[in-house]
Amino acid sequence: MKRLFVTGGTGFIGARFVSLALEAGYRVQVLTRNTRAAERWKHEGVTVVQGDLLTPGPWQEEAATSEGVVHLAQPLTFGARVTHKRAEAYRDQRLRMDSLLLDSLKPGTVKRLLYVGGTSYYGDQGTRLVAEDATPHPTGWGPYIAPAIESLPRHLERGLPLVEAYPGSVYGLGSWFEEYALEPMKTGKRIFGLKESLTKQMSPIHVDDCARALLHLLEHGEVGRRYFVVDDQPATFGELSQVAAEALGVSYKKTLVPRWLCNLLMGPVVTDSLTSEARLSNARLHGTGFQFLYPTIREGVPALVRQWLEARRRS
Ligand SMILES: NC(=O)c1ccc[n+]([C@@H]2O[C@H](COP(=O)([O-])OP(=O)(O)OC[C@H]3O[C@@H](n4cnc5c(N)ncnc54)[C@H](OP(=O)(O)O)[C@@H]3O)[C@@H](O)[C@H]2O)c1
Repeated sequence: MKRLFVTGGTGFIGARFVSLALEAGYRVQVLTRNTRAAERWKHEGVTVVQGDLLTPGPWQEEAATSEGVVHLAQPLTFGARVTHKRAEAYRDQRLRMDSLLLDSLKPGTVKRLLYVGGTSYYGDQGTRLVAEDATPHPTGWGPYIAPAIESLPRHLERGLPLVEAYPGSVYGLGSWFEEYALEPMKTGKRIFGLKESLTKQMSPIHVDDCARALLHLLEHGEVGRRYFVVDDQPATFGELSQVAAEALGVSYKKTLVPRWLCNLLMGPVVTDSLTSEARLSNARLHGTGFQFLYPTIREGVPALVRQWLEARRRS
């Protein structure tokens, strides 16, 4: 059984990934700053490693002796208006986290390193469906993750077996979509949308498929390659909301806000993300033999609604 060292394993995508890795028979070590966050795995054979990616420590030795490393951790992104200043702090922390982790890994010992980036690095790609070799035009969070992504070739050159995965807009239990669409819809409230983003398509993926794809890429991704982790078809936020409303059996009522108001409430970084067009192809991921549970939002969103209603019944 192989040993995996996972950063970000207590997060939204990471928690799902860790459960799948355990089911697949991996011995999993989860790095966290707060061991209480990893309590859910107390009885499931996960080894919790306490440590902070911003501070050198014994966790680096644990990472360096693992056969597999999956790097999902990111600085906090949620919970406040995202100003450029806040995004710059994210950029600096992400760079430091990556460098303390990746510099501690030794070629030859680590057999596979899966790095999780984000498609905001590609930014606004217009209305064409694009593949991983498109020229990035970072928008939203993109400019702030770009320095970390652009330092990855250095690690590949020194022999780290790096595979890069770039999830699109990930929805699932515990995500932005639950908070901004499902909760208000269920209570008859209106959904806020941005006027300028009405026709803009993003590349969504259900968190269960995202975590399954990450595990698949860990095992089948080609070293030195980058993979978009997105559905078969892009969609607008309005389409996601419409499918959710149908699954909930409610009507979709929306209020459109202008760009300046979104800027004021959410900040310029989020506003830029919402107005970017990101129609990304998953042909390369399909080429590795990956099979989706939910190829499009038509399957994924109703599944999320069922999962969400079930979770509410249990709580
Ligand atoms: N969510 C999306 O829609 C989306 C889309 C595209 C790409 N991505 C990428 O996917 C990855 C995972 O995203 P997510 O949304 O699942 O993350 P998340 O829910 O925001 O979780 C962040 C994780 O990072 C860990 N972390 C933060 N600072 C840390 C530090 N200093 N030291 C150690 N661990 C630290 C946290 O662990 P503790 O708090 O337990 O220490 C937590 O597990 C990220 O790289 C993100 O950029 C996400």
